[in-house]
Amino acid sequence: MPAIEISDLTKEFRVPEKNPGLWNAAKSLLRRRFRAIPAVTGLNFSIQEGELVGFLGANGAGKTTTLKMLSGLLHPSSGTANVLGYTPWQRRTAFQKQFSLVMGHRTQLWWELPAQETFRLNQEIYEIPDAQYRATVEELVELLELRDCMSIPVKKLSLGQRMKAELAVSILHRPKLLLLDEPTLGLDVVMQKKIRQFILEYNRRYRATILLTSHNMDDVVELCPRVILIDHGRLLYDGSLRQVVERYAPHKVIRADFNEAVSPVELARIGRIAQYQGTRAVLEVPRGEVSPRAADLLTHFPVADLTIEETPIQEVVRRLFTQAPSKAAPRG
Ligand SMILES: Nc1ncnc2c1ncn2[C@@H]1O[C@H](COP(=O)(O)OP(=O)(O)O)[C@@H](O)[C@H]1O
Ligand SMILES: [Mg+2]
Repeated sequence: MPAIEISDLTKEFRVPEKNPGLWNAAKSLLRRRFRAIPAVTGLNFSIQEGELVGFLGANGAGKTTTLKMLSGLLHPSSGTANVLGYTPWQRRTAFQKQFSLVMGHRTQLWWELPAQETFRLNQEIYEIPDAQYRATVEELVELLELRDCMSIPVKKLSLGQRMKAELAVSILHRPKLLLLDEPTLGLDVVMQKKIRQFILEYNRRYRATILLTSHNMDDVVELCPRVILIDHGRLLYDGSLRQVVERYAPHKVIRADFNEAVSPVELARIGRIAQYQGTRAVLEVPRGEVSPRAADLLTHFPVADLTIEETPIQEVVRRLFTQAPSKAAPRG
């Protein structure tokens, strides 16, 4: 049985029409007019137990709305969802105990209190036996290097520390399904890596199913063999990440600072020059050539600093939307 199966899932938000002017405001109080915003339209997909899937799309594409329906926070306008054998919006206790929704921009931790207080609360809510609770907390504290953070009020933690505590508290009850909405948003590179390692570890160790949204291409590349792409609430692509990347992001980006100005003519042999300012350049290099070209750059140019980056996911998505073959092209 798949962990998630949705069929024709659709969500329209109804929002009051905005009529500027006093007279219209008075009129609209009497007879409110509503406008329908189609957030998710006829979405179909199925995710097997243990899969780690990236859920991608531009801002406003409908990702968060979908995750909220999958966790039962929102009722759909139509369509069905089967998540771990339940209809999420029926909000059965047995279902609530088997998944977690983590939102990068919203905290479930008590702001004024140390994280450990929220941990204890969740122990009560999820009825986790003492011995199991202690063992799990110990393991998570160790794995996420949280020891020093547990007794500090959450509002005093850094964003990265808070995010780690957030993840820890949301898996105290060992959910079989994790829905992660932008888990690395705003984190520095080192912290992003830790969060990714942890997500992967959790997936491997417990065969947990994980569906995650991210604007960070590194998250997707390192974690998700499969991606589901949506645009304006509609499915655009569902399949292997490799295929998307090869097709729409055949390059990586080398960003270099030099100790003295270098010649753009010579730089051009390393890769396509996307930006050039004398002592600083951004080069696009074919994916398979990154190592030899970076080595060439380091040996033959006065490199002060160098980073290799993925094409931003926004860019990949933009290319996908503008270059998609007609069958996968977005409406309109
Ligand atoms: N509570 C709401 N009321 C009205 N419109 C909403 C609400 N939540 C989301 N939307 C709209 O639904 C669309 C999808 O939003 P969302 O699911 O948040 O997209 P994403 O997470 O992909 O950025 C957007 O047009 C957004 O403005
Ligand atoms: Mg969102």
